[in-house]
Amino acid sequence: MTLLVTGGAGFIGANFVLDWLAAHDETLVNLDKLTYAGNPETLASLQGNPRHVFVQGDIGDVALVTRLLAEHQPRAVINFAAESHVDRSIHGPGDFIETNIVGTFRLLESVRGYWSTLPEQAKSAFRFLHVSTDEVYGSLAKDDPAFAETNRYEPNSPYSASKAASDHLVRAWHHTYGLPVLTTNCSNNYGPYHFPEKLIPLMIVNALAGKPLPVYGDGMQIRDWLYVKDHCSAIRRVLEVGRLGETYNVGGWNEKPNIEIVNTVCQLLDELRPKADGTSYATQITYVTDRPGHDRRYAIDARKLEAELGWKPAETFETGIRKTVQWYLDNPEWVQHVQSGAYRDWVSKNYAGRQA
Ligand code: NAD
Ligand code: DAU
Repeated sequence: MTLLVTGGAGFIGANFVLDWLAAHDETLVNLDKLTYAGNPETLASLQGNPRHVFVQGDIGDVALVTRLLAEHQPRAVINFAAESHVDRSIHGPGDFIETNIVGTFRLLESVRGYWSTLPEQAKSAFRFLHVSTDEVYGSLAKDDPAFAETNRYEPNSPYSASKAASDHLVRAWHHTYGLPVLTTNCSNNYGPYHFPEKLIPLMIVNALAGKPLPVYGDGMQIRDWLYVKDHCSAIRRVLEVGRLGETYNVGGWNEKPNIEIVNTVCQLLDELRPKADGTSYATQITYVTDRPGHDRRYAIDARKLEAELGWKPAETFETGIRKTVQWYLDNPEWVQHVQSGAYRDWVSKNYAGRQA
């Protein structure tokens, strides 16, 4: 038995791959283009593991994906591959359209070709699981109920619009061609191996480097945070028992304003790595110009996943954020290595135009 995972060198994909191979005997083929966000170092512990087959390539490369499918005969494909950072999608939406929409379309076509040749039993057991986001539902007002699977799609950024389009393609490939698909729409993840362009790792890394902690706008935007390994356990659950063609919202009922997240990170660092001068890392907080089109609030109603599939997160925000901060303190080389020239170029491009 084999799984094909795409984007398995990125933040969530790599956490999934590491957890999966630690617990299962199956071979896992990991197809990743290794964009700036893909990091083979995250997978270093798998070196020499014959059950991990890493292939550098694009989900949109039909010849390559068709060959991999024919060669490895996976029982499922899990699609993590995407351009994932909202700010980057504002500066340059082209890659988001190319990978998230065109790439998903080409991947679906390659998979459909393979799936249609399978014997009847393997065909009905096959799954295509598409990993998506809560951002497709748009932005909530303060008192709105959390996003349910039945909410209208109202994406607001080039990133969320491209993910919304990919979700629609996946849905259509099920309804039109019968491809056995599942879709998950998850809230904000955090945890080990998170690229330090995203809020939580950026704050940890900047705090330790004595740099400003750039909070967009008034810092009162709300996100719903889930520890990455709980997202991975939800994906495993949906893969095994999810109903075909269904979408499942994934979240941990953990809504918090950004400024509270930043203050929590500062408090943990004050405790675990106090500054020599005795001041708090919170003194580095700097309010900067807001993100254009910034969604105010996300919140996930995860009752369908909990009630139908019996999934529950293992971490609370308090346990998960402590583990995360500790992980960054314990892994300075990983952080140092991802802060390449390309990373530094991105930071100066994204933050240069923002007034403090
Ligand atoms: P990431 O940016 O850390 O990783 C994306 C990975 O995909 C990288 O390894 C990259 O090299 C690879 N990739 C990009 N384009 C590719 C292509 N054309 N072909 C093959 N590989 C390609 O992203 P992430 O945070 O790990 O997110 C993974 C998935 O989960 C995405 O689909 C994202 O939309 C979704 N998601 C993320 C979050 C979150 O909070 N990070 C929450 C919900 C859903
Ligand atoms: O909701 C799920 C989504 O969460 C995923 O689909 C995306 O792939 C993932 O990147 C994430 O999107 P966000 O835009 O919510 O995450 P980000 O970490 O970029 O920002 C979180 C919040 O923090 C958001 O309100 C913007 C704010 N922020 C972010 C950065 C990078 C700041 O205030 N300052 C910053 O420097």
